[in-house]
Amino acid sequence: MNLSGYNVAITGGSGGIGSALATGLIDAGATVFNLDSVKPADQNSNYIAVDLVNEPSVQKAFGQIEKLDAIIVSAGVQLVGSDSKIANVTLETWQRTIDVNMTGAFLSVKYAIPLLIDSGRGSVVLIGSPTGITMEGAGYTAYGASKAGMMGLSRIIAVDYKEVGVRSNVVVPGTMSTPLIKKIWDDPEKGPDLIRRTPLGRMGDPRDLVGIVNWLVSEDSSFATGASYAVDGGMTAR
Ligand SMILES: NC(=O)c1ccc[n+]([C@@H]2O[C@H](COP(=O)([O-])OP(=O)(O)OC[C@H]3O[C@@H](n4cnc5c(N)ncnc54)[C@H](O)[C@@H]3O)[C@@H](O)[C@H]2O)c1
Repeated sequence: MNLSGYNVAITGGSGGIGSALATGLIDAGATVFNLDSVKPADQNSNYIAVDLVNEPSVQKAFGQIEKLDAIIVSAGVQLVGSDSKIANVTLETWQRTIDVNMTGAFLSVKYAIPLLIDSGRGSVVLIGSPTGITMEGAGYTAYGASKAGMMGLSRIIAVDYKEVGVRSNVVVPGTMSTPLIKKIWDDPEKGPDLIRRTPLGRMGDPRDLVGIVNWLVSEDSSFATGASYAVDGGMTAR
């Protein structure tokens, strides 16, 4: 896949999945803008510091980008330990999760859209989760709800901007070994249980997502919109 000439923004580009996606895009020739609150350790992207739950901060971040062909929304939180069954979830845990995962996605796409329309080949890629489309979210009320929300958000963007050349899709990763879920896979019961629930019997590597994301960014996927693509070792198909 040759993405030379493509400008791509990625939120959460310093994280476990985001950094693998940023590297995959750069390797394919794209120019990448990494919008994150944390500077990446070692990455050949253009880093833009941002707090994705703060509208002026997001507006300022996108103001630094002149041309954009795609946005990947990978920033997210899963508050392992405090997110729980609904009766045990504090408003603070709920609000923080919805703020980063949903409001962060909303603000990112809101400020990316004018640039994507100008591009004429704009693509939105939201990183979802099996918790948003199956019962895999059991015990994670706020996280599962936020990820289900991303599915709806993507479909609405897809239909609202279909006439101006912007597509929107969701990529659904399975369990990936990243800092986000370290507390789960370090747990002697929950870690092995995640593997048991994955038909391919292993944890995914964030690099497993590079092919589908690069394809969704490219014009090779020009007939793909409003859809979701699972790369999850079969978890959602069980
Ligand atoms: N790791 C998995 O197993 C898994 C599985 C399914 C879905 N996902 C989803 O993939 C996405 C990426 O997850 P990850 O594993 O790379 O997580 P991660 O914790 O490694 O990275 C998340 C990144 O988001 C950034 N971020 C968080 N809040 C921010 C804010 N307010 N402003 C700016 N940046 C902020 C963090 O600094 C971090 O770099 C998330 O949306 C997650 O829900 C992950």
